[in-house]
Amino acid sequence: MPKVTYVQSDGTSRTVEATVGRSLMQVAIDHGVDGIVAECGGNAMCATCHVYVDPARLDDLGPLCSDEEEMLDCTASPRAATSRLSCQLPVTEDLDGLVLRLPEEQL
Ligand code: FES
Repeated sequence: MPKVTYVQSDGTSRTVEATVGRSLMQVAIDHGVDGIVAECGGNAMCATCHVYVDPARLDDLGPLCSDEEEMLDCTASPRAATSRLSCQLPVTEDLDGLVLRLPEEQL
């Protein structure tokens, strides 16, 4: 099972085992990781599952869809070149070792 690390804005981090096929948002919720609100339940309609992806791993993720692209303009913390919505990122074996930084605010 791939391991994914979620790093809080204060620098504390948590590495969890991610189930293939779940989204990176669902994995965070499954493990009680703080900092992912996921108000819309994963429908790309709230931007409260915003994460910053390790730039070296951006190519391991699928491309942005138009809904994700639009919602990333509505994040509570500033959008960056590495911003993604974790609900739109399915876990694959290729993501082992992925590091996600969580924004300071989600709402
Ligand atoms: S959970 Fe709402 S956009 Fe991801």
